[in-house]
Amino acid sequence: MRVFVTGASGAIGTRLVPELIDAGHEVIGTSTSPAGAKRVRALGAKPIALDLLDAGAVHKAVLASEPEAIIHQATALANLRDFKHFDRSFAQTNRLRTEGTDALLAAAGEAGVRRFVAQSYASARYARDGGPVKSEDDPLDPRPVPAMRETLAALRHLEEAVTEAGGIALRYGVFYGASNDGLVEPVRKRQFPIVGNGGGVSSWIHLDDAATATVLALERGERGVYNVVDDEPAPVREWLPVVAEVLGAKPPRRFPRWLARLVAGEALVMMGTESRGASNAKAKRELGWELRYPSWRQGFVAAYASTAPAERRGLDPGVRASHAPSRLSG
Ligand SMILES: NC(=O)c1ccc[n+]([C@@H]2O[C@H](COP(=O)([O-])OP(=O)(O)OC[C@H]3O[C@@H](n4cnc5c(N)ncnc54)[C@H](OP(=O)(O)O)[C@@H]3O)[C@@H](O)[C@H]2O)c1
Repeated sequence: MRVFVTGASGAIGTRLVPELIDAGHEVIGTSTSPAGAKRVRALGAKPIALDLLDAGAVHKAVLASEPEAIIHQATALANLRDFKHFDRSFAQTNRLRTEGTDALLAAAGEAGVRRFVAQSYASARYARDGGPVKSEDDPLDPRPVPAMRETLAALRHLEEAVTEAGGIALRYGVFYGASNDGLVEPVRKRQFPIVGNGGGVSSWIHLDDAATATVLALERGERGVYNVVDDEPAPVREWLPVVAEVLGAKPPRRFPRWLARLVAGEALVMMGTESRGASNAKAKRELGWELRYPSWRQGFVAAYASTAPAERRGLDPGVRASHAPSRLSG
């Protein structure tokens, strides 16, 4: 297929473009900067400069490219630091997910695009009651914490607009797998605490596995939503000490809820204590997706062990993963 990828120069885009090309697709990849265009060209795609918030430019670019499919992966989350003012930090990404998606869908309709796949998010989206692991059919959080309202509304908008148009929204877990992942520095500096009992459940996904699932969704997916997460949703109290160990950092601090709220805001408190994880059963069943890193336990070692200080390296991954897994189920 001739595939138009937005955000081709980004964290997921740079993993996705080579997998699309390997699978025999022709890729046109957007970015906003000359450096981004250079990355896209080096990956074997045709680069084009595009600001997704310029609806006229989106229309022109899509029609001129004559794609059969669009994959929307543009976000603006680099250098994300301030989780206290969550919606403010996500404001530009929220626009890419609302205005950007709408502009792409309008252009896709005119250009006769057959397949549309867009990036959504799984962790911290599902209702904070019932079991710890949710499927795509389970309800989303009906009462988001105020600090995250706009961000969660933007994701809802994207999913509704895309699926109403016949497309696919992929609810990715938390991305990891690049040495500059946002998690690395805060964990090294012990700025990422376990809040309260650390019972908030996260769903992770290695960027390579996310890219593979995206190609499969493009080729075989049915209209609707898929969770694209690993096999082991886990509470923060379980995965955070493992990340710290793999990075060669000291164990995470523990903060009571009130202190975490004061320092980091209510969104992080919610994610650390109440968030639910997601099940990947549908994506595996319907897409025939097999994960390279079925659990973050192996994935974190593969991604980060080489970045740990020399005296901490060489630990047997079995030792690192010795925190016994507590399998959660839906
Ligand atoms: N599920 C998740 O956990 C999740 C989801 C998204 C991001 N992240 C993380 O957040 C960090 C930053 O990632 P990121 O993907 O936002 O940043 P990124 O890696 O810099 O990529 C963002 C992509 O969107 C493009 N883009 C940005 N603004 C645009 C606009 N107005 N119009 C069109 N395209 C635009 C960028 O183009 P340029 O390269 O030209 O700027 C780039 O291709 C990474 O560590 C990533 O793993 C995590």
